[in-house]
Amino acid sequence: MRCSGGIRTIIRFAERGALLGVIGAGTCGGPSSGSPPPPPPPSSDTIPLRTLAAARGLRIGCAVDRGFRYGGSDGATFRAKLVREFSMLTPENDMKHARIHPARDTYRFEPADSLVALAEANGMQVRGHTLVWHRQLAGWLTSGTWTPDTARALLHDHIASVVGHYRGRLAAWDVVNEALAGDGSPRPGFWYDHIGRDYVELAFRWAHQADPNVALFYNDYDIEGINGKSDSAYALIQRLLARGVPIHGIGLQAHVRLGGVPTTLRANIARFAQLGLEVHITELDVRMPLPPTAAQLQTQADDYRDVLGACLSSAPACDALVMWGFSDRESWIPGTFPGWGAALIFDAAYRPKLAFLALYDLLK
Ligand code: G3I
Repeated sequence: MRCSGGIRTIIRFAERGALLGVIGAGTCGGPSSGSPPPPPPPSSDTIPLRTLAAARGLRIGCAVDRGFRYGGSDGATFRAKLVREFSMLTPENDMKHARIHPARDTYRFEPADSLVALAEANGMQVRGHTLVWHRQLAGWLTSGTWTPDTARALLHDHIASVVGHYRGRLAAWDVVNEALAGDGSPRPGFWYDHIGRDYVELAFRWAHQADPNVALFYNDYDIEGINGKSDSAYALIQRLLARGVPIHGIGLQAHVRLGGVPTTLRANIARFAQLGLEVHITELDVRMPLPPTAAQLQTQADDYRDVLGACLSSAPACDALVMWGFSDRESWIPGTFPGWGAALIFDAAYRPKLAFLALYDLLK
């Protein structure tokens, strides 16, 4: 009974001859349902998601961190899957302040460079993430004592150096990440505390100076639906645009709980698009209590489909959908929400889940 939705989807899919037999263990019944059937054949008979997405004018991507650096055949499998299915890549951590700027006069670009090189070698675009955030700041910065003028100089140096390093090579930068608190007020944090609210505007202006051709985004969570916080983001961006600040896009992170896609997502994307902005879904995942049941996996597929559908409904303004990883083997969710996981579109053995099929189905 619990498997009925999933089976319906599989049959619908198989009837069109597109993907027979690629749904494997874990999509119906989950890990607790006895010994799983043998792994399904590889999905080489499917059309890559990125090919389908391109035909709709959409980039489809994922965040990448530790899987990229697995050794041997493990790493080869990860990377092969990554470049086959996706046309966009976001470094999950390697461009963050603490990683890329470990000492005041030291930048460490190599890890992020290797991701950018992989992307370029495989015709993938890169979203830079992120220049200005209240988290993952280097200790030398947060433990120092700085005047407002020095803090501004440090921010300028960081942005000029990092954006300058990748000048001409990235499609987008998350310039400012999560600058709003839950009530829509400016979130306290290192840059706000030292510079004041001007830091947002300065960051966009300095990023634009360092690379005039890259699209500059404001990125945040809990702004996917129409609510108080997204109203504040909207007002912030309107204010910046009115002041001539070079801001080109809004990133809706979309870390969603199972069944939690806001019903106003479409309308929200549409209103940001009407501001003349590019809209990216930047960090999509749909977490569920573990172990997954067949019904949960079907609900998750519906959630993924709804997010993609909302984005497509605002095409061409909504032109990128990026997930926060692609396999349940590499995801931030279990570490942050104990007992929760299975949030992505491939399972931990890199087999496509119903969520993958939902995206495939809608793009086809
Ligand atoms: O790489 C080190 C490793 O060497 C060390 O042994 C280990 C010990 O804790 O830490 C490892 O670094 C961790 C890193 O993830 C890689 O796994 C950091 O501690 C940990 O803080 C970091 O978490 C990241 C988190 O941002 C930090 O705030 C997650 O991977 C990353 O998915 C998450 O991403 C954020 C987006 O940037 C912004 N939106 C929300 C999203 C989820 O929190």
